[in-house]
Amino acid sequence: MNNFIFQNPVKLIMGKGTISELANHIPAGKRVMVTFGGGSVKKNNVYSQVVEALKGFYTVEFWGIEANPTIETLRKAIVLGKEEKVDFLVAVGGGSVIDGTKLISAGLLYDGDAWDLVLKGYDTNTVPLATVLTLPATGSEMNQGAVISNMETKEKFGFFSNYPVFSILDPETTFTLPDNQIANGLADTFVHVMEQYLTVPGVSRLMDRWAEGILHTVVEIAPLIRKDKRNYDVMAEFMLSATMALNGFVALGGVPQDWATHMIGHELTALHGLSHGHTLAIVLPGTMNLLRASKGDKIIQYGERIWGITEGTRDERIDKAIEKTDEFFRSLGHTTRLSEEGIGMDTVEEVERRFNERGVAFGENHSVNGEMARKILIDRM
Ligand code: NZQ
Ligand code: ZN
Repeated sequence: MNNFIFQNPVKLIMGKGTISELANHIPAGKRVMVTFGGGSVKKNNVYSQVVEALKGFYTVEFWGIEANPTIETLRKAIVLGKEEKVDFLVAVGGGSVIDGTKLISAGLLYDGDAWDLVLKGYDTNTVPLATVLTLPATGSEMNQGAVISNMETKEKFGFFSNYPVFSILDPETTFTLPDNQIANGLADTFVHVMEQYLTVPGVSRLMDRWAEGILHTVVEIAPLIRKDKRNYDVMAEFMLSATMALNGFVALGGVPQDWATHMIGHELTALHGLSHGHTLAIVLPGTMNLLRASKGDKIIQYGERIWGITEGTRDERIDKAIEKTDEFFRSLGHTTRLSEEGIGMDTVEEVERRFNERGVAFGENHSVNGEMARKILIDRM
């Protein structure tokens, strides 16, 4: 185990009716900008709860942060926020609204174009930000990450800023989620854990078992959610699983991490607009297959502990684990092949070209360069 300092400062406020506590955690006198997506919060009573809770504050609303938030939209929010001299932000929505608001929080204190900050990759000079989460998936409510898209250049890049000050997680807000967003959220949660787990065995028993605990939970709750997405306790477990999957807790002590699946997935979103969770369901089985030489021992551990695969040769066990993973994503309602989405070789070549041009190589061994990304995607045709 490597030396480490761990401090995740996000105050999690979780449970039924907790949006009413919003104002108790914002310093008095703040000028608050509240950010939203396209309007789902008006259909599920979240908006009215937020308005009621913030009655005592000067508020400005910014609407229209879209799925895969774009710099084009966020620039407008930054202009408005500067005009209104806002000094506190409340993001109300899914990962996209939260991520977009993270960039706004930095952009408000930056004189140039906020896309500069995305290209730099980080900025921690920010206006404080809180979140009201409505979609369990990204973990953005308890981490420093954001992913910002550029419509003009068809690019999608990660950006790191500060943690939210606090996040409100009321599982009842998820009751209105459409099935495809539930599928995205479950796949995203699952793959966040896999990116921090599926490398090599024997690094940390504890991190392995925490990771496997989340994987087991996601596999167990998925069919229960399909049966009844208004089951409060199950949705609460979904919400907490998603948060715990990407808030640092399963990566303590510097466990090796991968993230190649995410990076390839971002290109599929940037080029074709596929939802984030869906891209991961397509790519992950390919990453597992192509990296079976380096990941094989851990894939076998995963297959045994998550799917009960104990028989067969090494390759048969790896094949079976990949098959079970693919089946799981399909059981959520995702397609898992590029051809099913009408995506062909031109996209594969473009992803390869982009990775080569950027000189990137992802994965715990830095082996997923342009050529390997191409092989992974061809495996998923
Ligand atoms: O815009 P509205 O009308 O609110 O509708 C949203 C949106 O259309 C809808 N929705 C959200 N909550 C709802 C709801 N509909 C009904 N009932 C509710 N309770 O769902 C749609 C998708 O929302 P979005 O926020 O885009 O989804 P998600 O939370 O999956 O976020 C995806 C974005 O997060 C990034 C992704 O790349 C993508 O851009 N990620 C962020 C990460 C991070 N910050 O750490 C890590 C992830 O790996 C991921 O990359
Ligand atoms: Zn993700």
